[in-house]
Amino acid sequence: MQREQLRFIHDNPKSRDFFQRAGKSLLGGVPMHWMVKWAGAFPPFVREAQGAHFYDVDGHRYVDLCLGDTGAMTGHSPSATVQAIEEQARRGITLMLPSEDAIFVGEELQRRFGLPYWQFALTATDANRFSIRLARQITGRAKILVFNWCYHGTVDETFVTLKDGVARARRGNIGPPVDPAVTTRVVEFNDLAGLEQALGARDVACVLAEPALTNVGIVHPENGYHTALRELTRKFGSLLILDETHTICAGPGGYTRAENLEPDFLVFGKPIAGGVPGAAYGFTAEIARRIVDQQSLEDCDVGGIGGTLAGNALSLAAMRATLTQVLTREAFERMIPMAERWTAGVQEVIAEFSLPWNVTRLGCRAEYLFSPQPPKNGTEAHDAMDFELERFMHLYAMNRGILLTPFHNMALMSPQTDAADIDQHTRVFREAVGEMVAQA
Ligand SMILES: Cc1ncc(COP(=O)(O)O)c(C=O)c1O
Repeated sequence: MQREQLRFIHDNPKSRDFFQRAGKSLLGGVPMHWMVKWAGAFPPFVREAQGAHFYDVDGHRYVDLCLGDTGAMTGHSPSATVQAIEEQARRGITLMLPSEDAIFVGEELQRRFGLPYWQFALTATDANRFSIRLARQITGRAKILVFNWCYHGTVDETFVTLKDGVARARRGNIGPPVDPAVTTRVVEFNDLAGLEQALGARDVACVLAEPALTNVGIVHPENGYHTALRELTRKFGSLLILDETHTICAGPGGYTRAENLEPDFLVFGKPIAGGVPGAAYGFTAEIARRIVDQQSLEDCDVGGIGGTLAGNALSLAAMRATLTQVLTREAFERMIPMAERWTAGVQEVIAEFSLPWNVTRLGCRAEYLFSPQPPKNGTEAHDAMDFELERFMHLYAMNRGILLTPFHNMALMSPQTDAADIDQHTRVFREAVGEMVAQA
């Protein structure tokens, strides 16, 4: 680890200089405080990115398997999106008025996900927050339910985990406005008995769920889980919000379309506009009716659902181009086999060295975890994490031109990611494991 840390510092003098200079104007020398957590002594500063790759200021070329942690799942700066952005930027960026692109995108989302009505936000966090507010309003219930070790963005209610079976504010939760244990019930993913009990009090407005967990390692639903989740939410009058922001990796209509799920709300952000800020949330006709029934024209601009720049012309033009020309069925037909190749390469190394690790995949996203079996729930996935070991694997990869998704061991494929990129990862992964095993 020490050798790798020194190598990173030695190989990245320009990034080091930038980091020192940044420390004089940016808290911690980074634009977002969590960026200090990258595995090196400082993050590589980026010069430019294109497709599946980026170059840092020291001239290293990286295979980007992080892809702006899904914001750039389209590949960096896809040409159709860039062209739409260039054209729209000359015709007006934001107006507080609709454009035809808004209708076009609404119709396209309707076609993809099967939900009839759509609204826009700037981030998936906001799309989740707005969906939760609407669910509370129309059910008249206060609580929400999430799965242990979920992540849905910086939504206050979701920073809560189970400790000895009791919901508690998540470690590291900064200045929560209200103790999230008051607002939120937490159950383990795949635990139907726990879910039934938590919904049974009939005070839960909505379940907010990724259809498969992707933020604590990948945790797949067990057979029949989604059918039962839907039955239980209907039985107890709770609405179901499926957050497809990451699980869009399952295919062009996300996990919802791939598995014929029937959410009340669906949230999709990050890559929807090719990396330009934008997000959407859709809902059923029944939900639309209930929202409208409770809306007052006079107050609808100050109801806690908003964003001056949300639904801006630039985001919508970028969404239109991205949805029709970039995140297409054909793109997924290239991306998914690349994730299969990545998974097979990692699996081969795990077997070769008899490591007590496993690798899982969901569409064009894959992840290795430091436990022998794939996790059944968030706790199993979380317990399999090892901060030091993970940092070592990430740093080793970065020193050899590969960027994994922080802060677990996830790889995402873009339409431009190719076999040579994947094989480079497999080679480096084998080398890292080989060195560790030789030392052990
Ligand atoms: C499933 C899921 N939903 C929502 C978000 C929040 O996205 P954003 O940070 O763009 O608001 C994330 C971010 O990682 C996510 O993984």
